[in-house]
Amino acid sequence: MPAPNIDTIVSLAKRRGFVFPSSEVYGGLGSAWDYGPLGVELCNNVKHAWWRWLVYERDDIEGIDSSIILNRLVWKYSGHEATFHDPLVDCRECKNRMRADKLEGYFPEGSGGVRPENFDANARLRAGLVKCAECGSTNLTDERHFNMMFRTTLGAAAVDDDPAALAYLRPETAQGIFINFLNVQTTMRRKVPFGIAQVGKSFRNEITPGNFILRTREFEQMEMEYFVKPDAEHFKLVDEWVELYIEWFKGLGIDAANLKLHEVPREELAHYSKRTVDIMYRYFPERPEEERQWEELMGIAYRTDFDLRSHSSKATDQEGNRANPDSTEDLSYFDEATKQRFYPHVVEPAAGVNRTVLAVLMDAYSERTNDKGETRVILKLSPQLAPIKAAVLPLAKNKPEIVGMAKAIKRSLQPVLRAVYDDTGGIGKLYARQDEIGTPFCITVDHQSLEDEAVTVRDRDTWEQERIKISDLAEHLQKRLKPYPVQPPESV
Ligand code: GAP
Repeated sequence: MPAPNIDTIVSLAKRRGFVFPSSEVYGGLGSAWDYGPLGVELCNNVKHAWWRWLVYERDDIEGIDSSIILNRLVWKYSGHEATFHDPLVDCRECKNRMRADKLEGYFPEGSGGVRPENFDANARLRAGLVKCAECGSTNLTDERHFNMMFRTTLGAAAVDDDPAALAYLRPETAQGIFINFLNVQTTMRRKVPFGIAQVGKSFRNEITPGNFILRTREFEQMEMEYFVKPDAEHFKLVDEWVELYIEWFKGLGIDAANLKLHEVPREELAHYSKRTVDIMYRYFPERPEEERQWEELMGIAYRTDFDLRSHSSKATDQEGNRANPDSTEDLSYFDEATKQRFYPHVVEPAAGVNRTVLAVLMDAYSERTNDKGETRVILKLSPQLAPIKAAVLPLAKNKPEIVGMAKAIKRSLQPVLRAVYDDTGGIGKLYARQDEIGTPFCITVDHQSLEDEAVTVRDRDTWEQERIKISDLAEHLQKRLKPYPVQPPESV
């Protein structure tokens, strides 16, 4: 039973130290969130699982970590300065400012939320067909384009509107990979096909952020650019990566019934994409209409050779003129086998860390009633993602021998797995707390432990208990934690 709605997770996340509303002491900051002690562990575990899966377990992917602030020209030639915008409207009645294409009536009926040919948004707005999301008025302004890149200025002498000092916070991690393509390819002596992965923060000045950590202005991406030959079967590669990611999400504990694919219509493709398939997650199970329950978890795009070509000094436009007079490097690749030079094409799986974390939390949520008729929340997180793998609990906290033994067991487990010691309540309360934060195992030290050098290991999901010798404990837990539930992927 997954969480019935996102609000359930918001309250659990705050109550148990996963995610807090940001800047709360100053009244908050709309749609910004801070990750607490357990949230940061969960995020790190998701990122490590992804990195292990792609960079360590495959032999054809390298990792990098590029700057967040890049030369402004990167965003000029990537096309983001000109095209990375959303349509914005204001309500003349309630003064609300909104993203136009999310409003009721923006698209003609039957268009399925896709811009038809000769679509004229302003004609529809002026005809009063589009409704304000706040007050329902149709008295809206014309739409205008709003570029979503955050602007900043570089250097002490810069004034706010100095174009020479203008810079952006990156809206995707991908460009840091493209501009380093040759650096990675030559230093690591790579042959196409190969991939470059990067995980890190991205920033978008979203017009209408919301739904907890689903849409925020600061978020984290896990992106991988897979470079292939111009004549590779690009569309088939998109399908193959979709399948690999579905398996990966399932390995993180997400039920396949809560995942579905969305082939992005041609009219909706980003400026660089020839084909994109989104993997959607059921973030809104409470909505009665099935088609409104889903939101994008990640996208897999065929980006052609658009980015490498755009950043290259030697690439030419349709008239044969140099397309990028600012670049000092040609990012083409020489294929020794065929003696041909070309710009590699790219298939890009781009996933969000925060959306993955939210999906994992929603899917892991479950409730169970105990013998006393009390309902308990159990977070059935995949063990590899659980923030804490084992909690060591003394049955009597006023018995120094038991406390000493429990603390020593915690210390002995720590080099092998993340363990905590907790004596802040009665055993029932301690179990309930660990269940609610997804700890797979509770280890109880009792009076008998002093005699038989054994402890009780309690399973989070079944509540079954077994007695294990302290000398065997680390190995026993490691076996049951199984760090790699996902089959290592075959190379594509
Ligand atoms: N490089 C391609 C790219 O950035 P995208 O579909 O715009 O593609 C990829 O973003 C993923 O990043 C999304 O599927 C989502 O998981 C995450 N993402 C994008 N915008 C986000 C936001 N405002 N808040 C949280 N996650 C976001």
